[in-house]
Amino acid sequence: MENRLYELLEIKTKDDLGTVSKKVKIRVPKLRKYAQNMVIPSGEDAKKIQQYLGISDLVYRLKLGDIDLNLKEKIAQHASEIAELFEKETTVIEDISTVPVFETELGKLYHDDSIQVMKNMPDESVDLVFADPPFNLGKDYESRIDDKLSKETYLRWTNQWVKEAVRIVKPGGSVFIWNLPKWNVHISNMMEGHLTLRHWVAVDMKYGLPINGKLYPSHYSLLYYVKGSKPNVFNPERIPLDVCHTCGHELKDYGGYKSKMNPKGVNLSDVWNDIYPVRHSKYKNRGSNELPLKLLDRIISIATNPGDTVFDPFGGSGTTYAVAEILKRKWIGSEIGPVDQIIDRLKHLEMESRQIDEIHSKKNHLFLPNIEALRRKNGYWLPEDFEGPQVEQERLF
Ligand SMILES: C[S@@+](CC[C@H](N)C(=O)[O-])C[C@H]1O[C@@H](n2cnc3c(N)ncnc32)[C@H](O)[C@@H]1O
Repeated sequence: MENRLYELLEIKTKDDLGTVSKKVKIRVPKLRKYAQNMVIPSGEDAKKIQQYLGISDLVYRLKLGDIDLNLKEKIAQHASEIAELFEKETTVIEDISTVPVFETELGKLYHDDSIQVMKNMPDESVDLVFADPPFNLGKDYESRIDDKLSKETYLRWTNQWVKEAVRIVKPGGSVFIWNLPKWNVHISNMMEGHLTLRHWVAVDMKYGLPINGKLYPSHYSLLYYVKGSKPNVFNPERIPLDVCHTCGHELKDYGGYKSKMNPKGVNLSDVWNDIYPVRHSKYKNRGSNELPLKLLDRIISIATNPGDTVFDPFGGSGTTYAVAEILKRKWIGSEIGPVDQIIDRLKHLEMESRQIDEIHSKKNHLFLPNIEALRRKNGYWLPEDFEGPQVEQERLF
């Protein structure tokens, strides 16, 4: 039973839970709910716990990590004394192998725990960190990692790798984190004060089935942070206008703005609904958890230029490394589980290179050639209908 509240109340077994519940006068289901949902008891329940333990409200809050802005200020005022206490604790860093298991001219893959790999990396040494960690959904990973941790343990582990990711990214470099919204709200909190939020991108992709009593979860969250106030590189692509694929008519009414549409396409927004999961076995490199090439192509292209360095701590099937390799970025990767598939994939990138070419051929056009032909046939407007120097200046979208 790993939980800070249980630790504080010295609850290790079910029997302890029953005994403490009676003594503290909070019912078992309520205590369990607090622990499972990582909610810090407040009001009467907080008083009962403080009385039972004989501690003050301040000690109670510190022990449970309930640190609000006032408390943060107090901690800052007493920083030297607190640091002195911490410095007495010595940390032993394991000796880690620093030899990559596979290398190309551009990249290095480590068969290791990503936190250890990052600890061996210098401060501010990469241009982009992209991370797609396990979501703690109880999945079976080949690496046999425990994907069903308590919420607190998962977040503690997450905090460890996020801290390292923040350290290794260069000033002006970017950090993208792909996760479920329920985890990214916490990760966002961990980044605050260290990096600047540029976007919470909602990637419209259904996962799982509708849940009774809840909205149908249908977006992944992609956090986009930068170290400092501005990114060194920002190359967003333009995307085609949403149209009916049988008639070519635009799906939204652009009314008087048609003439202001950029022939190179629509500005990429922070809602992406053109990313599809890898389903076809021909394109799959492993059973599950493989992100689409298009997603990584977009992220790497937005935040880096050729020659820049990309780091992905959670290799999986190696999508990030494959795309980085094709786009001529340097890359560093780590995977704790089997790496044979990644290595094999990186040795045979011909088909994926062609897929990336195809993805690129569809960028920066308002209408793709087949849609343009359809629109022309049906007499719908095209950017050429609004050409002229004044229009160029007024392109809005
Ligand atoms: C969601 S998958 C990543 C999938 C990847 N983005 C792709 O497109 O194939 C997460 C991966 O992280 C690996 N992993 C989990 N904990 C790790 C750790 N501490 N260090 C390195 N890899 C880890 C898992 O074995 C799993 O393969």
